[in-house]
Amino acid sequence: MSDVVVAGGGLIGLSVAWRAAQRGLSVTVVDDAPGTGASRAAAGMLAPVTEASYGEEALLRLCQASLQRYPAFAAEVEAAGGRPVGLRTAGTLVVGFDADDVAALDALHGYQRELGLDAERLTPRAVRQREPALTPRVRGGLAVAGDHSVDGRALHAALAAAAAAAGVRFARERAAAVRVARGRATGLELGSGDALVAGAVVLALGAHSAGLPGVPPLPVRPVKGQILRLAGTDGLLTGTVRALVRGRHVYLVPYGAGGLIVGATVEDKGFDATVTAGGVHDLLHDAIEVVPGVTELELVETLARWRPGTADNAPLLGPCELPGLVLATGHHRNGVLLTPVTGDLVAELLATGELPELAAPFTAGRFAHR
Ligand code: GLY
Repeated sequence: MSDVVVAGGGLIGLSVAWRAAQRGLSVTVVDDAPGTGASRAAAGMLAPVTEASYGEEALLRLCQASLQRYPAFAAEVEAAGGRPVGLRTAGTLVVGFDADDVAALDALHGYQRELGLDAERLTPRAVRQREPALTPRVRGGLAVAGDHSVDGRALHAALAAAAAAAGVRFARERAAAVRVARGRATGLELGSGDALVAGAVVLALGAHSAGLPGVPPLPVRPVKGQILRLAGTDGLLTGTVRALVRGRHVYLVPYGAGGLIVGATVEDKGFDATVTAGGVHDLLHDAIEVVPGVTELELVETLARWRPGTADNAPLLGPCELPGLVLATGHHRNGVLLTPVTGDLVAELLATGELPELAAPFTAGRFAHR
């Protein structure tokens, strides 16, 4: 028997487990292949300002709260896990190609200013001074000094080590169902047929959260993303570059020693893990338009995984209609960014029974009227 059993050993599940263990709770994480879902595909952008969207101000505030925690969180995970997480603080550029792209950049900049966010409009020349590898055909840009990135895979490895050092136990098993007794979640049934009994069950299965037997209906759906990894950049870019290429979005995120992630498609295709010729073509085409030097790089990996999408693009945090079941899912495009704040907020709920104010707008109850 544990105080807490966490279904899902991705970044979100590990962060919750680690923080809960630090609060003195006994915690078991159940996952037959931890870190091989969305956490493995994520580019690791920590970019609430460049990703700001109309009507998502509450989500923006949560993302900003998490970004603010990142430097201390990264340092603590590195110290406790004994390995680096690859936090990069070189900022983010957003660039546009044609008149419509530049108009979209202006609209984004106007919105950012309305919200008091820190973003600087740049001429094409100033854009290329910052990132000389960009094509001279860029028509304008925005610089956001505070939008950063982290190496998601390195972070996962360090978090797993930190969680283990804090006493978190790992069951390398598939979570098969939530056990329910007398109207309350009492643990997890495992793929092996065994069961783990716990005082609270945390659901952190990402896009698979809605399909777990015993879980009440949840508005979480898979949103497919195809992503590429390239190698041999040799300092091609210093920070993240996001681009609108004649209306199509692409991002290029440097990581590690000479690595570059190019992403990502956004597809409503259910749990389809196919990497398609068209997906790879579009990503490479747009990346090479933005940074012609990409053509020389080695293509080392292609991958498709699923973001846990919700109707308002914001996560599901905290209690739900099944007592004892705590949600930490639905992070859609912001899972890596929201990892620190989700761990803090959900662990606070688990340790004290009180959901912090910051999490209140993100309970499942907001969908009750729909
Ligand atoms: N946040 C990047 C993506 O979802 O593709």
